[in-house]
Formats: sequence, C-alpha cells, structure tokens
Amino acid sequence: MEWKPDKDAGVPIYIQIAKELERQIVLGVLSPGTSLPPERVLARRFGVNRGTVSAAYEELRAKGILQSWQGSGTWVSRDLWGVKQMPNWYTYTNGGAFLPAYPLAKRIQDACFDSSIINLAKAELATTMIPSLIPTPPGEENGIRLELGYAHPKGEPRLREALAVHLQENYGIHASPDEILVTSGAQQALHLITLCLLNPGDAIAMEGPSYSYSLPLFSSAGLRLFRLPMDENGIVPEAVYELHREHRIRMVFVNPTYHNPTGTILSKARRSELLDICQELRLPLVEDDAYGALTLAGSPKPPKPIKAIDKTGAVLYVGSLSKTIAPGLRIGWLVGPRSVVERLADAKQQMDFGTSSVSQQFARRFVERKSWNNQQERMSRYLLEQQQTMVRAMHKHLSDYAVWNEPGGSYHIWCRLLAPRDEKELLDDAVREGVVFTPGSVYGAEAGWLRLTYSWECPANIEEGVRRIQKVLQQKKQ
Ligand SMILES: Cc1ncc(COP(=O)(O)O)c(C=O)c1O
Repeated sequence: MEWKPDKDAGVPIYIQIAKELERQIVLGVLSPGTSLPPERVLARRFGVNRGTVSAAYEELRAKGILQSWQGSGTWVSRDLWGVKQMPNWYTYTNGGAFLPAYPLAKRIQDACFDSSIINLAKAELATTMIPSLIPTPPGEENGIRLELGYAHPKGEPRLREALAVHLQENYGIHASPDEILVTSGAQQALHLITLCLLNPGDAIAMEGPSYSYSLPLFSSAGLRLFRLPMDENGIVPEAVYELHREHRIRMVFVNPTYHNPTGTILSKARRSELLDICQELRLPLVEDDAYGALTLAGSPKPPKPIKAIDKTGAVLYVGSLSKTIAPGLRIGWLVGPRSVVERLADAKQQMDFGTSSVSQQFARRFVERKSWNNQQERMSRYLLEQQQTMVRAMHKHLSDYAVWNEPGGSYHIWCRLLAPRDEKELLDDAVREGVVFTPGSVYGAEAGWLRLTYSWECPANIEEGVRRIQKVLQQKKQ
C-alpha cells in the first residue's frame, strides 16, 4: 500500500513527509538527480494541502538533500555526500534470485500483525491453546538444564529418536532416526527440497489450488509449476501421467490430509494409486502433512499418510509442530531415504548451522506420548467448538452470499462466493471494516473463493468477523 502521512501520529505532517522522502532517498528508491512531483501533485496524493508539501520540500532543501530552481522543479541533490556514496539499494532489493512475497499475501501479512483487525486469515492456534509450561521431568527439579551448543546438522539425536517413536505411534510411519532431518518448520524442508534436489527449469506437479502457490518459493528456485486437478476426494492421481507425458514432471508435491486451503482428504484408494503411479514413473512424491493431526473431536480419523505405505522410499514426508503445538518453535522434519537426509542436512548446515538447539529440547518434551496425547485431546475439542461457532455465524450472515464445506479437521473453511468480486478490492474493504481473510487467488484458485480460519480468534470475534464480511459483501451488492 502506498505510504500516507498519519494525522494522529502527533508528528507534524510536513515532517512526516520530509522523513518519508528522505527514507526513500537513502534506500535508493529516489536516486540522486530524480525529479520530485510538483507540490500540488504530491499534496493531492497525500491528501494534504500544498503548503504542507512545500514546507517538507523546504526542510529537505535546508538539509541539502533536495535542490530546486525556479521553473525547473525540485530534484534529489546530485552532489549530496551521504547519498551520493550510497549504493542503489532499490535495484539491489528488487534483484536477487529469491523473489519477494506476492503483494496480496504481503497485504494480508501486514493486516495479521494489526491486533485491532479480526483475524480470519491467520493459520495459527490461539495463544491459550499453546502449551506454555513444560512439566519438569524427574531429576530436574531445579529447572530444565538447556544445552546451548550448535545442534547436530540432522537435528538433536534425542529429538530424532523421540520423533521416530512419535511417527510410528501416531502416523504408522517406520523411520529410523537417521532417516529424519529436523528442519526450521515444514517450510524449510520444502525449501531444501527445491534447492537441493531440483534444478531451475524442472517441472513439478502440485494440487491446484495449493498452499504452495501462496509463496514464490518454487518460482524462486526457477521451477515450472503444473496443477493436478482436484475434486472432493483430493487430487485425481491419473492426471500425473498426462502431466508427466507433456512436461516431464520431476517431482510431485501433495498435501493429502486436510489440504490447505480446501480441507479435502485424499481418499485411501487414491493414496495408494498415487504412490503406485509415482513408483512406476520413478518420481519422488513430497507429502506435506502439516495439518494431519488436526482431526476435530467426533470426526473420523483420516487415512494413514502415504509415507506409511511407502515400501520403496519414494515419499519424502514433511511434518511440523507449528499447527499442533506452536509455530514459534520452528520445528519441522523431513523423513526420507538416508542419502536424501544427508544431502539436505549438509545444505542446512551451510545455511544455518542447524535448527535452534533450545527449540529442539522443548520439542522433544512436546512429542513425548503423555504431553502429545493431552494436547491432541484439548485441540480436537477446541477446533470442533471453534468450527461450530464459525459455521453458525456463516449460516446467520453469509448464506445469501456463499456456499462452503465443513472439513473434519484443521483450521479453515473454504468458501465460494455466489457472485465473485474483485478480490483485492474485497480484501481492502474488509480490512477497512476491521476483518481480514485470505482470498483464494493467494492459493492459485479462480476468482470467488475465500479461506476463513477459525483457529485464532475467540468465538465472539469469529461471529463479529463473519458479520463484518457480510457487511462488505452487502455494500458491494447494492
Ligand atoms: C500446507 C502447509 N505446509 C507447510 C506449512 C509451513 O509450516 P511451518 O513452516 O510453520 O511448519 C504451512 C503453513 O501454514 C502449510 O499450511
């Protein structure tokens, strides 16, 4: 969003404008010699009177940052010592192989950090649901003694051992600690895969829509993305054949359980069909299971992860504690053949010298059976009540405007507007009304889809947030 002065900031407007211009000059957005807009044009853009802009320009002229000449306008000084030496940060920050976040995603992110806005976009457990106290284990009555050295490149051995047990007991996945790499969230596991196992120009297949479209992570790695069509049972596995024939697919990415954003579950039959196809084509299959443990109380358990039926090592399984325990721990993992784990661990070591050893020590306690089971039980009841609140509010306020599903797990409701709107405009109106959600295009969906999250806000705010969305939709209808 374009910068505007803040009339309530308690700082004179002309000073705010002068500071903003100076900031842009220092960053290289406005380079030496650049002409500035005439005072009346800038005044209109900022919604202030011309005299205010004039005072800001005068302030910068007095510092030698701007120059002007009667009839020739105002420009950034060419011989300004501090600025003249400054590298052009604008071109640097707009270059680089790693792409910036998409503008709509950035807009949502900004709104998510504004606590005055009701947040139906944030995919995070409410802070009350995050276990804050770690029970002191026997023999450590004087508190937990943390080891603070660099962690093992693959992750703390004791955490990997605990994860091997955890994966076996809760997901039916057999893996030895050597086949597990601890990462900084599932995100880093996905990133390492794109950087270390694929090359620029490679084609990959993924669900459409998909969480993976929300980040330019794959485009940054120069990959070509192709969509696997979906229905209410997840992706259609045979579509892999066609994509492979046409584009020589090198890897398949799926999020089969409580898919983000649609909430669908890939059926058991399709899981084995997809695995068979990938094995036949000798294609690695990345299974992102960030939401797999989030079944709502009373809903049937989803089928086992594909990794649990993988006998050949085709699946790279990605998991995380972000959605079940706490995203701030930044603990995720990848399970795969030893050679892959070692290659990725080597890259990770070069990038960050291993995931925080402090987080890993806490994480080990959270995945221990008793602590995990307690959290699971609390979470499944909490998520059910939260979803019920949202669905009630949607029936009350949105039934004339949208249709939606009610997934048996996870944090979101995927909702289709009966009359699609311009998504950017809708989001802007919603943020002005004090509520934020995620437009479907962020995940590569066609126009008219919204993802509404019920994991973060209290019931009263969920109800109010949905009411505000109705208000915005109603205004547009008139
Ligand atoms: C499907 C999916 N995968 C991976 C992630 C990344 O999670 P984290 O890096 O916090 O473990 C997210 C986060 O929202 C997600 O929705």
